[in-house]
Amino acid sequence: MRVGVLTGGGDCPGLNAVIRAVVRKAEKVHGDEVVGFLDGWRGVLDNDTMPLDIQTCRGLLPRGGTVLGTSRYQPFMYDDGIDRVRATFAEQRLDALVCIGGEGTLSCTNEIHKLGFPVVGVPKTIDNDVGGTEMTFGFDTAVHIATAAIDRLHTTAESHDRIIVVEVMGRHVGHIATWAGIAGGATMTLIPEEPFDIESVCAALVRRHEKGKYASIVVVAEGARPAEGTLDIPEPGVDQYGHKRLGGIANVVAGEIEQRTGYETRVTILGHVQRGGTPTAHDRVLSTRYGIAAIDAVHDEDWGAMVALDSGKIVRKRLKDCVAELKYVDQGLWSAAKNFFP
Ligand code: F6P
Repeated sequence: MRVGVLTGGGDCPGLNAVIRAVVRKAEKVHGDEVVGFLDGWRGVLDNDTMPLDIQTCRGLLPRGGTVLGTSRYQPFMYDDGIDRVRATFAEQRLDALVCIGGEGTLSCTNEIHKLGFPVVGVPKTIDNDVGGTEMTFGFDTAVHIATAAIDRLHTTAESHDRIIVVEVMGRHVGHIATWAGIAGGATMTLIPEEPFDIESVCAALVRRHEKGKYASIVVVAEGARPAEGTLDIPEPGVDQYGHKRLGGIANVVAGEIEQRTGYETRVTILGHVQRGGTPTAHDRVLSTRYGIAAIDAVHDEDWGAMVALDSGKIVRKRLKDCVAELKYVDQGLWSAAKNFFP
């Protein structure tokens, strides 16, 4: 078979490990030829490719980012987008396309599948919000990075008896915030799923500080929002694809905390450092398992499948079901986190 691979949306640690696993099994077991499309769907639209084989994938397992490049371009943004995709499939004599991406890329892959294209999806994102799978690769690495940062922030916050508000990624969901908050012993965590009341946040911090000279770490997901009518926040700008450019809610939260409580408060926004660098061992293994499962799905001609983690096993789900709804923070986990709030 001749198999295409693309990586779309925001990058994350483990993308290269998936590419490597797809290529390894495709070439070694099936004798396939693999072609990589550059910059996600942009490469398919423009027929812009690079060859992928076992040799070119050497050393990729621990490498962050994606050697294929990525973008948020999608065929449906253009009137002639689908014709261009069809032309590329024909010119490349493609039998299948493996699409590695998050919610946006996988939704697009599902629409492309509905038009009859032979596609298979692999779920990626540090946000861990793709439906149908217990975990996306990249998430574990991001949680490790955020937790390590919180550990460091504790010592400086304690030395100065300050509050530090640390902002982590999480556009629609608070998986990174909840996990890193628990792992890092955060005083409080604010997530998009639970609109916060700044007055209650401040009251909790005062309760804690009144008991002694204790610094606090407040973890805020970038997508966290105040309960309606409680606090005005600036409307975020949009990027070239029309996506809201989040980041900065920590500044608003910290300003309010300092003003309302009088406690000295500082801000750390972790931003893209959570997406960069080498994947954890867990993410390397998950990415590798996903890559192998994706090429298996290709050879079973299971078009419209998405590989997923379910009860520790790699299974296949239907893309249409997985993109129907985001995966939010589990209520049980959230109440475990809340046990530690003051
Ligand atoms: O989708 C993952 C994510 O990391 C979000 O948490 C974040 O809002 C977004 O990507 C930012 O991506 P970029 O800066 O690349 O547009």
